[in-house]
Order: sequence, then structure tokens, then C-alpha cells
Amino acid sequence: MTQIGGFIAPSRKPGVLGVHSVDHFSLTVPDLADAQNFYSNFGLDVRADGNGLALHTDAAPHRWGRIIEGPSKKLHMLSFGCYEEDLRRFADHLQAHGITRTDPLPGVDSNGIWFRDCDGTPIEIKVAVKSSPSSKSVFGDLQNPPNVRAATVRAMAPRVRPRRLSHVLLFVRDLNTSIKFYSEVLGMRLSDRTNFVAFMHGVHGSDHHMIAFAQSNAPGFHHASWDVGSVNEVGVGAATMAARGFSRGWGLGRHVLGSNFFHYVRDPWGSYSEYSADIDYIGVECDWEAQEHRPEDSLSLWGPEPPPDFVTNFEA
Ligand SMILES: [Fe+2]
Repeated sequence: MTQIGGFIAPSRKPGVLGVHSVDHFSLTVPDLADAQNFYSNFGLDVRADGNGLALHTDAAPHRWGRIIEGPSKKLHMLSFGCYEEDLRRFADHLQAHGITRTDPLPGVDSNGIWFRDCDGTPIEIKVAVKSSPSSKSVFGDLQNPPNVRAATVRAMAPRVRPRRLSHVLLFVRDLNTSIKFYSEVLGMRLSDRTNFVAFMHGVHGSDHHMIAFAQSNAPGFHHASWDVGSVNEVGVGAATMAARGFSRGWGLGRHVLGSNFFHYVRDPWGSYSEYSADIDYIGVECDWEAQEHRPEDSLSLWGPEPPPDFVTNFEA
């Protein structure tokens, strides 16, 4: 049983081995002050965390991200959460798949299982509270009643505070190899794909994707997506960030794959943080049929043209 961002539900597919959540992601960046400034303006609760920063939201005690200093912006590691009864099974499962276990990364306090994914990215599987949702996200765009001014004045616009991490999108060397690895080793399932992007959900109930991949020539971090409660919050968040100097990005639009309304704000390192609302949810009872979609459905159902370098891997 877990409660994150208002969701209350036990959520486990009986007998099936799979991670239940992206517990957190970790990046290196050259200057922590830039990260503090960007993520706190984005609406996250940014806290000192050892030699780095921790990314929190108001709705949950969970640590969704960790930022440490390094020579350049780079995906540092990914941590996945599993149920307690599954950790030993994952250890056996990794051995059966010939995956070499590694030590935890230096400076990381961990009792989890460590290894590297098919692109060499450090991966941790640990026992953790299920931080992915176990029911559909609450979405607050309701029709406004008559005889009232429904929109606030700009000066009174509420501060947008994302509720939780929804997903991360990584650049990968080979889409098919990554889909196979994350399916067979971590027990995730393909939701939808095109020829250059793929979206995967957790078998114990999660958003349409808690991890996604984009074809590149090297691993890298493209974006982290943060759930908000309405299209209005997506728009207000984008406008607030633009007013604070972060006007580059892409949106407002709606994705085909995942169905979420989005606005991506470009961070100081050429990757993105996404405001996302009303993403599709795939419950434990659902045997979601993965589909291969046409390339033009990779990005949006509607919205402006993305910037020309939107899917450039600056870590390559
Ligand atoms: Fe996204």
C-alpha cells in the first residue's frame, strides 16, 4: 500500500517479477547552483543532499532525483524500486541472465542490487515504497461555472508545484536492444513505439511510461517529466519559467503516445523538464497491447513544431 500524490492502492501483479517504479534518477552537472536555480523555479523542492542536491515535491516525502557535480551534464545512474519479496528473485534472475553484478557507485549508500544496462548506465534495483501511481492521476480541468471570472489575474497566478515524477526519457544506442533488456531483465513492458522512440510501463501498475527511449548513437538523458493536475498548470508553469529566463522549450501540446498534455522547459544543459498532465494509466489488471505507430505519431497529436535540436543528444 502506498500513497503518493493522493493515490492509495495496493498494486501488484501476482507472481510476476518486475520493478514497480523508477525510484529516482541521478545526473551530474557542472554547477549545482544552476541546478538549484532551475529546479526550484520549476516548482520542485530542492534540498541539500550530501555532496549534491535532492529533488522532492510537496506531495510526497519521496526523493525523485539526485544531482551531483561532475565535469558535464550526464546521466549518472537510475534507481528502480521493487517489492521486498522480489529482491532475492531479482538477484537470481540477473544471474540466470548472465548479468554481472557491480558495486554501488562511490558515495551512494545502497543495499540494493547494482549492475549496468545494455548501454553501460549504472542501474540499482532496491526495495522501496512504490512511488509510481497505482491509479489514474487526478485531473482537474473541469468546466467553469457561469457568472464567475474563472481565470485569475496574472499577478495572482498560483505557483505550479508538480506532484510527482512521471517518467524519464533516455537516449539509447539501439532501441530494440534497450526494449529487450528492460523487458527481460527489469520486467517492464512495452506500451507503444515508433521507429525511433519507445515507451515502457511497470507491470505492477504505472503511467503509460515510466521510462522511455529515443534512438541515438550514445546513452544520455533527454528529460524528466513531472505530473501536474491540469492543462492550466502546464501553461502557467511554462509562462512562469519563461518569465524567469527559461523561455526555451516546446509546448503546449498533446502527445499521441501516452496522451498527456505537455510543455517541455529546456534546462541549462540542453535537456528538459516536462510539465505533464493526464497521462494514460496502465493498471495491473490490464494486458496492454503494445503497438507500433507511424513516425509522425512519435511527438505530438497537436502543438507547435518542436525546436530543431529537440532530440539532440548533447551527451554524445
Ligand atoms: Fe515525456
